[in-house]
Amino acid sequence: MSKPFSVKQSLAMLQQVIEQLPAKRKVAPAPSAPELQETLDISLNNQGVDTEQLVCAAKAYLEYNPDVSQVAFYKLLYSGLNTPALLGDWVTSLSNATMHTYQVSPVATLMELELIKQWNNLVGFTQGDGVMVSGGSQANLIAMLLARHKRCPDIKTKGLQGQTLVAFVSDQAHYSSLKAANVLGIGSDNLIAVSSDDQGRLDPQALEFAIQSALAKGHTPFFVGLTAGTTVIGAYDPIQPSSLIAKKYDLWLHVDGAWGAPVLFSSEHRHLLADSELADSVTWDAHKLMNVPVTAAVILVKQSGLLRQACSGGGGDYLFHSDENEAYNLGERSIQCGRRADALKVWMSWKAIGSQGFSDKIDHLFDCKTHCVEQIESISELQMLAPAAYLNVLFRYQPSEELDEQQLRQLNIAICKKLKAQGTYIDYATYKGRSGIRLILANSDCQRSDIDDMLLACISAGDEIYKGK
Ligand SMILES: Cc1ncc(COP(=O)(O)O)c(C=O)c1O
Repeated sequence: MSKPFSVKQSLAMLQQVIEQLPAKRKVAPAPSAPELQETLDISLNNQGVDTEQLVCAAKAYLEYNPDVSQVAFYKLLYSGLNTPALLGDWVTSLSNATMHTYQVSPVATLMELELIKQWNNLVGFTQGDGVMVSGGSQANLIAMLLARHKRCPDIKTKGLQGQTLVAFVSDQAHYSSLKAANVLGIGSDNLIAVSSDDQGRLDPQALEFAIQSALAKGHTPFFVGLTAGTTVIGAYDPIQPSSLIAKKYDLWLHVDGAWGAPVLFSSEHRHLLADSELADSVTWDAHKLMNVPVTAAVILVKQSGLLRQACSGGGGDYLFHSDENEAYNLGERSIQCGRRADALKVWMSWKAIGSQGFSDKIDHLFDCKTHCVEQIESISELQMLAPAAYLNVLFRYQPSEELDEQQLRQLNIAICKKLKAQGTYIDYATYKGRSGIRLILANSDCQRSDIDDMLLACISAGDEIYKGK
């Protein structure tokens, strides 16, 4: 069977797609799913189509996808366009390397090891290792697996055997911990949500109390999961006091830094993640604040060798040959077999701007955040709903004291909807029972004037909806 087109032709088609894109795409262009289904031909058929139709399909794909590269995309924990990483991503697809053995991913393996070394240096794991994973959710799953393996290594071969293992995270933790507890057979009921303080940080006293309650029931506590940069408000859980408690009860201490770990690049702001070296493992997403195209993430582990102990098994007959490069076969540290070579795109962007480039970017975004909070606090119709320790700003339009929580929620949801139609993509979220607009600052193209425009747009949308102005 002949190939429909060559690599060179595919490059020419890509160029065509890019050149014909409108200079400024809509940030949130997609109509409802049924409408889009009507608009586009998504069907697959018995007969193939020509290259022109493929170019049209690729253009339509981009046209209807939210343009996350624009500053006006404030909705999620990723945005912006990291062009060196994009180049790396394209080359990665061309190589189609897979990360189980050095033989089929020689350069990517060395790059992944270099990245892990650099990340571990930032965290303070002097002898650590790690492996790249599909995202923060998988990294959190592996952290819980390591904790389980450390506490009860027999579970790997014999299963749970009636034990009740108990894990602890704060009530602000990302939902991936629930999934991890489910997948690992811990049971989501045995993931205890420890209360957080008024700054959204895990309360160490409540943690110790929860551990003692689990022990009193005859259960086996094994895992404490802290968050560095919570999803809704960007809070950093206190590592030092939690570490003392984890040590006292012999528990694994994990830090989910999927969103907030990159703060370690910045000498000005790394204090938020002080004591990171006290953790046993750290999750770090490169596809969030480092703006690398999804997916790119890592699980970093203080104790070298444990990943291999917990994750390895099988494949020796045909895949993991004992040759001179055996020690470089990252597949035995992973729960995946085929794994995309995500290292190249991260490496390319790090190589292009250096650690200093990420530090500058983070400092700039903190400056935008501070400006944003100052503006909100100076405008009577706007109200902050939580402290903004990191790059999340949770606020709301509140034109009158008389509106109840439900009315304020509906009003702010309506503002988000209106802004989306106007080309600014923000979202709403709830924190400790109060709902408002969650703004995420992750795109370093953002300037103070963009923040001013966005806040003005919120106020005029709010005025229009509430006062009918
Ligand atoms: C704190 C935190 N941890 C983990 C995750 C999950 O990361 P991923 O989407 O890469 O699986 C998120 C996602 O938003 C997050 O905010």
